Amino acid sequence: MLKRFSISLEEDLLEKFDRYIQERSYENRSEAIRDLIRRSFVKDEWEGDKEVIGVISIIYDHHMRRLQDRITEAQHDYHHQITSTTHVHVDHSNCLEVVIVRGKAKKVKELSEKLGALRGVKHISLSMSSTGEDLK
Ligand code: NI
Repeated sequence: MLKRFSISLEEDLLEKFDRYIQERSYENRSEAIRDLIRRSFVKDEWEGDKEVIGVISIIYDHHMRRLQDRITEAQHDYHHQITSTTHVHVDHSNCLEVVIVRGKAKKVKELSEKLGALRGVKHISLSMSSTGEDLK
């Protein structure tokens, strides 16, 4: 059930917020505020080492000796946290591996850091999301 409440804001801050809403194509202030609140809760989930969902994307050079093995070994070490892995052959020498992860935030970050530290990994990103359970 939706509840209404009012917010008091400094004029400058409200103007800035309205520009923010416009740039992101929000339909109204309420929707933008709901998103900001949820985003802050997701941040708390990660900082509080809660059960989270994330996506690790890795771009790497598959000509690098043993790198593919090392990436696979790391994923076996964290198999409890891995839901699914997809491999894309980007071009002659670059691969993209997308790993969907679910588990305690610290473990998931640990895996991402281990993968990112491997020699030959050109770029890694960890998209920090939520199971959605506490977001409603
Ligand atoms: Ni490949």
